[in-house]
Amino acid sequence: MNKKKVLITTPIYYPSGNLHIGHAYTTTLTDFLSRFHKQQGSEVFFITGSDEHGQKIQEKADEANLHPLEYVTGIIKGFYKLWDALKVENDLFIRTTDPKHEKFVQEKFKILKEKGHIYKGKYEGNYCIPCEEMWTDGQIDNAGKLCPNCGRATEKQEEESYFLNFAPFQKYIKDALENKGILEPQHKAKELINNFIEDGLQDLSISRTSFTWGIPVPGDSKHVMYVWLDALLNYISAFEFDEAPFTADDIWRGEGEIIQLVGKEITRFHSIYWPIILEMLDYKNPKVYSHGWLLDENGEKMSKSKGNVVDPFEFIETYGRDALRWYLANGISFGGDGRISHELVKENINGVLVNKYSNLISRTMKMLNSYRDSIVPPKHNSEESTKLNNEILQLKDKYVLQVKKVDITNSTKTIIKMLDEINGYIDITEPWKSEGEKLDTTLNDLIHAILKVSILIAPLVVDGTKKVFQSLLGRDISTYEDFEKNLEGKKIEAIENLFMRIK
Ligand code: MSP
Repeated sequence: MNKKKVLITTPIYYPSGNLHIGHAYTTTLTDFLSRFHKQQGSEVFFITGSDEHGQKIQEKADEANLHPLEYVTGIIKGFYKLWDALKVENDLFIRTTDPKHEKFVQEKFKILKEKGHIYKGKYEGNYCIPCEEMWTDGQIDNAGKLCPNCGRATEKQEEESYFLNFAPFQKYIKDALENKGILEPQHKAKELINNFIEDGLQDLSISRTSFTWGIPVPGDSKHVMYVWLDALLNYISAFEFDEAPFTADDIWRGEGEIIQLVGKEITRFHSIYWPIILEMLDYKNPKVYSHGWLLDENGEKMSKSKGNVVDPFEFIETYGRDALRWYLANGISFGGDGRISHELVKENINGVLVNKYSNLISRTMKMLNSYRDSIVPPKHNSEESTKLNNEILQLKDKYVLQVKKVDITNSTKTIIKMLDEINGYIDITEPWKSEGEKLDTTLNDLIHAILKVSILIAPLVVDGTKKVFQSLLGRDISTYEDFEKNLEGKKIEAIENLFMRIK
């Protein structure tokens, strides 16, 4: 049988400094989705990478007295380290300075030009260097000429530039946003229409003459490509690499699912410009999921100047990556803004991973050891048992649907509900007071329930569940087929305190 093909992407990050918890957020959730689809048996291509061109990178490299390539190569070592520490298992890390990507972008530029989608014009506006974005007079606060995105001062700039002619696609993109479900959550699609389409869609400038650190425009060496066209095309140029399990045409023109996670500040690029570029190149549309920002404990945006930037390594070292991965999915409501702090993470981890999951495992295994010599007893029919198992199956179906819809935070709530059901089953059956077949059934159910819930959270809680699978299955991975696994008669090596209470 042909496996379902799934392409899953993060934005490619600017190597202009160290990554912070916000970048870790997108990548962790994307890794969760990728692992989930792989576990479901799909053929998945999960990519992340670095967006290495542009004026800001050039300036940073100048400051450091390095060639830009040398500069970014140093910085992305830190990216690899962070993805490693979070156990992000991407299939490819794409760099926009890779010759394969550069060649691909130039080819696509030529095609767009031949098809008449590109014209040469003049570009005027207020440029924000840190955000690499040019704002029209109408978009910025005219008194201070401040960038609407980061609030910093912009510079007046005018230069010759190539443009993508978006005017003929205004109806197309409005319809795609309104009726084709290309962006989730839906209310963000409405915002984009109101803010950027209703009053006339602006053409996108796709080249610059004011700096040189970019992919040269074919046939016009004065120009280098502006970062967004270069960057967005990574999602297709990734298929030029051997790591790709299927071809670009398989997915961008064929069947299969394309899941793209982006933060709210770059949703516009991914849900207006990107779908139009794809349409110009005869590719199909992806589904973009836009998430909010991670704010500090006071609800403020993180920034270097405020000194409130949260370092993901600090959280990984203090609580472990499972705890951080779980918190990012469960503690931040996906789609909206959320907060992160030591207090919040501690409370969440103690409340769920420790109290509801780890304690369930410790208690069950202790009982199995003292009542049944660590051997999983057979199971008999009982009303409570049927009820628990039906409940687990229903919640599993709900969870699977939620993750498929990238309804991430609710999917973790379904897991919590399942844990509550299982823990509640201990309270109802009172194994310490019971015996014989009744006790056998309770212990059998509990062991299988632990296996089931662990299979579901394995894509998120990557280290802890490995230990559970090792103990129950004798291997450290699981598939959805293990949901039906019968462990009766198996001697279980107990696990104690999978997650420790954080003081
Ligand atoms: N290079 C572009 C993206 C090009 S994609 C074709 C870019 N890079 S970035 O380094 O600035 O990273 C942007 C991404 O980082 C956002 O989409 C978002 O995923 C993430 N975040 C950065 N700060 C964030 C928070 N404070 N909170 C959550 N995510 C944020 O833009």
